[in-house]
Amino acid sequence: MTTFPEVPAFTGFNTPSRVEANVHDLNVIGTIPPEMNGTFYRVQPEHQFPPMLGNDIAFNGDGMISMFRFKDGKVDYTQRWAKTDKWKLENEAGRALFGAYRNPLTDDEVVKGKIRGTANTNAFVHGGRLYALKEDSPALVMDPITLETQGYTDFDGKMTGETFSAHPKTDSVTGNLCSFGYASKGLLTRDMTYYEISPEGKLLFDVWFEVPYYAMMHDFAITRDYALFSVMPMTSNWQRLEAGKPHFGFDTSLPSYLAVVPRKPGTTAADIRWYKGDTCFAGHVMNAWQEGTKLFLDLPVAKNNMMPFFPDINDAPFDPAAGSTFLTRWTVDLSQNEETYRSERLSDMIGEFPRLDDRMNGKKYRYGWMVVIDPSQPVEIKGGSAGGWVMNTLGMVDLETGTEQKWWCGPVSSIQEPCFVPRAPDSAEGDGWIVMICNRLETHSSDLLIFEATDIGKGPIATINVPVRLRFGLHGNWANAADLRPLEQAA
Ligand SMILES: [Fe+2]
Repeated sequence: MTTFPEVPAFTGFNTPSRVEANVHDLNVIGTIPPEMNGTFYRVQPEHQFPPMLGNDIAFNGDGMISMFRFKDGKVDYTQRWAKTDKWKLENEAGRALFGAYRNPLTDDEVVKGKIRGTANTNAFVHGGRLYALKEDSPALVMDPITLETQGYTDFDGKMTGETFSAHPKTDSVTGNLCSFGYASKGLLTRDMTYYEISPEGKLLFDVWFEVPYYAMMHDFAITRDYALFSVMPMTSNWQRLEAGKPHFGFDTSLPSYLAVVPRKPGTTAADIRWYKGDTCFAGHVMNAWQEGTKLFLDLPVAKNNMMPFFPDINDAPFDPAAGSTFLTRWTVDLSQNEETYRSERLSDMIGEFPRLDDRMNGKKYRYGWMVVIDPSQPVEIKGGSAGGWVMNTLGMVDLETGTEQKWWCGPVSSIQEPCFVPRAPDSAEGDGWIVMICNRLETHSSDLLIFEATDIGKGPIATINVPVRLRFGLHGNWANAADLRPLEQAA
């Protein structure tokens, strides 16, 4: 018998869904632009079984992949589990075998040494493969048409580290997939690996190095010649795991760093430049680029921890104001003998989940979109959410004109990460749409919204009713039909 615990993580809007689905031609209010031809993939953490330890954080759920296929003004919806090794072992046993988030000490003896990955963080297409990703494990490969799981890849034995980031970037010039791993030599190790993979799926080279302290290395950025990594003190150690504490804790006694890694074969740790900064929280990245010897990195930054479920290591209470993230620009000049990076705030919107027109990855760009918390808007969700801290607004920055736009989703809803869809593969930057899941928290339902990308303020041009409640998701990406077609015809 399966009974999920009566705790906030598994009740209300968070009630497990566990639905695999195929639904043809979803109900639409408004008009889907008929030129939209491709697929939006996104992933949500979803526990296959009640957690072993009675409660759990959302980040420890199994990956459930949603696929929205757009064609001729219609959209079809498919949803499947990412069948990781963990999912299969637990499915066979009929119960959870893996314990707390990134704490193998809490696992059932029968799964000791098995890959703990959940593939619950990102769904990303490159070279005709769909990668379902979680940063603590290798990349899981799925069929982008059928969503059948093919299994973990080590890129023909070329991947020498144990992990693959959930935030790879496609270099729009070379077509290479740029990615990295951390804890590359095992849990809690300081070893990192930068990888570059060709459009044909061949791992071209890797760069091994060490970070100053073990940290959650969640995202990164590329420029034409460099990979940029922010290091912030979301850290851990074996004592924490032995004590049964949450894997990560925030240590305000440690500085932050920016690492500049040359993107070329033969790079060694000695070639890497390190810059120091004040303690801060920096999770996701918007973009980066280079101009001469100057490097620019745009990312949401908070003064202090923004994740209450990974608390301060000295038990300082969570401070939502200090944990508010603002789009910020870090700058360094490689021609100077600098030891610190410069930091400048770009927007006063409280924003995270930054996204751009991905064709601008590594280049100077104009438009960015974010999930924004607008505390000035009312929240009327039963059971409430403390002080209006709800992801209730889609925000856009125009870095060329310095203007911003916002769209508020109303008092009983919240939103998930936006994703840019180009009107055509060669259309200008920002010419296209934003797709974004909206959580209807009162009716426990979900809509997929479509906006004109540079005119979000006027609200969605189409609302697609998803016939299944989608739980809070993490990341998603668009793939043009042309990039999927060879496989689609073969299927
Ligand atoms: Fe992420």
